[in-house]
Amino acid sequence: MMDNRVRIFDTTLRDGEQSPGASMNVEEKIAVARQLAKMGVDVIEAGFAFSSPGDFDSVRRIALEVEGPVICSLARCKAEDIDAAAGALKGAPRTRIHTFISTSEIHLKHQFKLTRAEALERAVEMVRRARGHVVDVEFSAMDASRTEPVFLYEMIEAVIAAGATTVNIPDTVGYALPDQFGALIKGIKDNVKNIDKAIISVHCHNDLGLAVANSLAAVVNGARQVECTINGIGERAGNASLEEIVMILKTRKDVLGLETSINTEQIYPSSRLVSGITGIMVQPNKAIVGDNAFAHESGIHQDGLLKDKSTYEIMKPESVGISRSTLVMGKHSGRHAFKTRLSELGYELAGEGLDKAFERFKKLADKKKEVFDEDIEAIVQDEVLRLEMPDRYRLLKLNITSGTDTAPSAEVELEVDGKAVKDSGTGDGPVDAAYNVIAKITGTKSRLLKYSVNAITGGTDAQGEVMVRLQEGDSIVLGQGSHTDIIVASAKAYINALNRLEYRKKDRRESLSL
Ligand code: KIV
Ligand code: ZN
Repeated sequence: MMDNRVRIFDTTLRDGEQSPGASMNVEEKIAVARQLAKMGVDVIEAGFAFSSPGDFDSVRRIALEVEGPVICSLARCKAEDIDAAAGALKGAPRTRIHTFISTSEIHLKHQFKLTRAEALERAVEMVRRARGHVVDVEFSAMDASRTEPVFLYEMIEAVIAAGATTVNIPDTVGYALPDQFGALIKGIKDNVKNIDKAIISVHCHNDLGLAVANSLAAVVNGARQVECTINGIGERAGNASLEEIVMILKTRKDVLGLETSINTEQIYPSSRLVSGITGIMVQPNKAIVGDNAFAHESGIHQDGLLKDKSTYEIMKPESVGISRSTLVMGKHSGRHAFKTRLSELGYELAGEGLDKAFERFKKLADKKKEVFDEDIEAIVQDEVLRLEMPDRYRLLKLNITSGTDTAPSAEVELEVDGKAVKDSGTGDGPVDAAYNVIAKITGTKSRLLKYSVNAITGGTDAQGEVMVRLQEGDSIVLGQGSHTDIIVASAKAYINALNRLEYRKKDRRESLSL
């Protein structure tokens, strides 16, 4: 009888991080990995160990510190990549090396200048090498959906014979159609003699908006691992979205008869955590996790819902972790209630992190009548997730003068490498003045690509959340800051981005992009 469990392989920290501007630091990656483990994913692709010291460190720390899922590193079919992946995973309890090579004629001929025979030989050799390090080895045939099927069968059979335990079939450029992709998986099952010795996985990109449909067609035809990301982030138009795959399998189990090990109530906290950390917002009408996914506007629908939820609701919002009440806490809430709410939102804080967040929460609760989930998320992202990222710059003081009859000016005091430095200057407006002074003190050569400000919740006492994107050379980073004063929030966001650029410079060994 065929196994009916679909493994969920999350690649938010690897392919997801390839979304423009989505790079995360090690602490942020660990926070995401812990949340993925809490949600019950089977495999976490933690990074691409060879690509940079930062990625190596993230894979190593996640492998050692995050319990539950198998932790995986990506590696090209090259000895140095495989050995770096093995080095990063060493000593961890449950690990996998995921190695890949292109198999399509288009890639082999135009990009890699390899013959099929050379690609096959290299793949076999590298899968053997990976098996010399770990027992769990995944092989991906990059651009599989545009590969000549008979060569794909040959490749898959050879890597399974060499020890691959999972064979992944990527639709790398999002070109496949569901029927076609389903037939490809069936073709693999029918033509690869040793296919029963490995799990078939799929990895679909969303260039034509078909990543989820293609993944689904694949599982219907026998794939038992789906590679996906939270909120569907990833290279170009992204990857198949984890929340959609999981909720399709759960909601339509009547027809599909398949299941996953995901605790679906952790889906929404995971989505919020990833969008908060990466700055990639979720579109309001996004299935499962968008703001409007459970909002019923039409009178006829509301009438039906009041009579019976099943009239217009195929999933309960609570089943994906969205609570119907949004108001959470105020100034009388204690530390225990705060910690519990944090945990419900996907943040497991203790020690100094919890102290700092609670202190900020109390200050905010004094200023605002009501503190919402979004406020708490902003506090955690603003304050706590960067605790262990060594910040070069810190805001000590900021005073602004501006108004209808005054030229905007700013006085800023920053801590730079532990020393207080003060300066002042002017600008077109208060934010411009503050940014000019910060740029003068830090001597930054970066360019401001984007600045946006949002009220986190309603009301004039709401916190302002500022997001900036900075570019220096080929590095683009995101900075975030929140405060009830939007000029302070703006300064914090700018300083956060400058710290990230500094952090990035330290991690500058050539970054490989796929
Ligand atoms: O899209 C792709 O083909 C990939 C592989 C490395 C699995 O991301
Ligand atoms: Zn990919």
